[in-house]
Amino acid sequence: MILPDEQFYKTCAHKLTSWFEQNRRDLPWRKTRDPYSVLVSELMLQQTQVERVKSYYPRWVDLFPNVRALAASSEEEVLSAWQGLGYYSRAHNLHKCAQTLLADGHETLPADAAYLQKLPGIGPYTLGAVCSIAFEQPVPAVDGNVRRVFSRLLDLGSDPTKKDGAALIERTVEHILRLGEPHILTQAFMELGATVCSPLSSCQCNDCPVSMLCAALKKGTQSKRPVADRRATIMRRLGAALLIGDAQNGWIVRRRPESGLWSGFYEIPWIIGGENDDFSACLQTLRAELGITAPCEETGLEETLRFTRWQVRVRLWRTSAVLQLQKGAEIVSSHSLLKLAMPAGLKRLITKALTH
Ligand code: ADE
Repeated sequence: MILPDEQFYKTCAHKLTSWFEQNRRDLPWRKTRDPYSVLVSELMLQQTQVERVKSYYPRWVDLFPNVRALAASSEEEVLSAWQGLGYYSRAHNLHKCAQTLLADGHETLPADAAYLQKLPGIGPYTLGAVCSIAFEQPVPAVDGNVRRVFSRLLDLGSDPTKKDGAALIERTVEHILRLGEPHILTQAFMELGATVCSPLSSCQCNDCPVSMLCAALKKGTQSKRPVADRRATIMRRLGAALLIGDAQNGWIVRRRPESGLWSGFYEIPWIIGGENDDFSACLQTLRAELGITAPCEETGLEETLRFTRWQVRVRLWRTSAVLQLQKGAEIVSSHSLLKLAMPAGLKRLITKALTH
């Protein structure tokens, strides 16, 4: 590991500023630095791929162009605009943020970090993104991409999400932000992590504007950084799944996205609940996501889905509600449903529901 010095900070600020100006992707949320719009895009980008946010963000700001418009909208309108982005607590929080801001007499987000961090759903990353991008303040926004970039630049030999490593990265980022324009540099760190300093061992060091500073490149340890947390905590959650249809007319399935976990697999509609959600909250979110108002019937079936660090106890409901098919969804017979490639836990649930 290296400890960065003044020269390191200066070179980083300088090289990344000119690199970003020449290489920035043309993304819809980069056309404005309006604080509300920055908040919307950063919340969307936290758990959703850039490609998907590219279509959702413009629609959202059309529907809810400012804090007042969002605060005045109903929960259904807000959830419906978020439909398909997943992790619906972000939409709830954004709605609550808008209502809190107005109640506190703010037509938009004030440039006041202490106030902003008390708003629902604004954690350290979102706070840093809003303060640096919208308000030009040197507040670090450290997400997975930024952690990877700095784990490599510094050849950090410890877990960058834990105490010392996390503090070193925050300090380093803040130092660099102070030497340039925070709104450019914050986005440059993210952009570098997203496009050049990728998670793969085949990161494109030849295209990296700060390769001359990179301690991992010097040692050949890029693919070992960031250091994985060996005792990775298991994330335990509850979830809800829904069998929609009947044996006569068929069942609704949808295809999983082309990339990422279980790509190419099919699934019945299901969701992972938020940290404190019980089964009924999970079901409620899933019904809102699908626009189902008809009653759902308990099947009494549960299974545990395991993947990466997740362990999700999923409960199955069924309904014969007639739905408009969402993009990527289709109707299949019972026979096909039992044969489709599907995450094992969902398959177990369906097999039990249809054959017992
Ligand atoms: N990921 C998180 N924030 C982002 C941003 N502002 N631009 C591109 N990708 C991002």
